[in-house]
Amino acid sequence: MAALFSKELGIDLGTMNTRLADSTQVLVNEPTIVAIEVDDERGAEKLVSVGQEALNMLGRVPDNIEVARPLKNGVIADYVVTESLLSYFLQRVSGSMRIFRPHVMISVPYAVTSVERRAVYEAALEAGSREVHLIQQTLAAALGVDLPIGAPSGNMVISLGGGATEAAVMAMYGIVSAETLRAGGLDLDEAIITYVRRKYGVLLGQQTAEQLKIRIGAAVPQDQEQSMEVQGQDQVTGLPRPVTLTTGEIVEALQDPLKDVVETGRRVLERTPPELVSDIIDRGVALCGGGALLRGIDKLLTKSLGIPAYLVDNPLSCVVEGTVRGLELYPVLQRNLPKV
Ligand SMILES: Nc1ncnc2c1ncn2[C@@H]1O[C@H](COP(=O)(O)OP(=O)(O)OP(=O)(O)O)[C@@H](O)[C@H]1O
Ligand SMILES: [Mg+2]
Repeated sequence: MAALFSKELGIDLGTMNTRLADSTQVLVNEPTIVAIEVDDERGAEKLVSVGQEALNMLGRVPDNIEVARPLKNGVIADYVVTESLLSYFLQRVSGSMRIFRPHVMISVPYAVTSVERRAVYEAALEAGSREVHLIQQTLAAALGVDLPIGAPSGNMVISLGGGATEAAVMAMYGIVSAETLRAGGLDLDEAIITYVRRKYGVLLGQQTAEQLKIRIGAAVPQDQEQSMEVQGQDQVTGLPRPVTLTTGEIVEALQDPLKDVVETGRRVLERTPPELVSDIIDRGVALCGGGALLRGIDKLLTKSLGIPAYLVDNPLSCVVEGTVRGLELYPVLQRNLPKV
């Protein structure tokens, strides 16, 4: 019994999605979101639902229920809610946590403050872990896609998440140069919202903008134009109004935030020793995170960085799979992991 439950677990605590895995499989893959019932009179809060169930409630609940994302730009914005979310998921995979507490490795963005790191560490510990180690998200991603980062040669990853974008060059199990941009997929959605408001005077919700991005969007012009009709709200009358967008329009809307992504990659390359850059030119840049699924993002980065960029096989699960590998490799990784 004990052996079965006293698990080694990897956690990818992302702005949009949280994933838990052990050495055999991904155990949890849910939106990082909770619904809380607030009792104003008593000042009490009660967890109503977590993950997909809470996401389904977004925008569809009465005033006394609050649906919130506890992370913002890759870091914890609401500590108490994050801890509740983690303990809910840990209990789901480990049963009674009081008896069987897992050994956990959890990912954090590269450029975070010691206070932000500490918050993730404490939240994972308070949620019921026996022991907690942190790992940089890009290092976990590299392990999760099996890049040979243990060798004295350069490997580059660009992680395109919902709240953050990170570029990093790694060698000898450590990070050589890296940068975290506190903007991600949500900012692409926001750019679509702004574009549609300016051009058509129609307000869209975040999830509608995200659907446009995923279904017909692209980072560079496509041979095949697609179009999609969505419902918005007329800015003047306040009444519902449909609007039809094309691939070309979404490409145009995304240009500004995508420039920031390109610049982040470029700055990291500029700070990388030439020997390692030449390894990266041979091997390419691995693109991971949900944003790597945007059509043409590989083409855009290949062209603007002058280095071949490719989509990995497991862009959504590579970080959590890498956190599990990180536990196995802990003795060699230890000195390169973030300290708390
Ligand atoms: N096919 C797609 N095209 C474009 N974007 C996509 C696609 N699929 C998912 N995304 C975007 O990927 C993002 C979620 O990715 P992911 O789960 O890697 O983020 P996260 O790890 O939670 O965030 P972060 O690492 O920034 O904390 C969302 O912004 C989502 O809109
Ligand atoms: Mg992520």
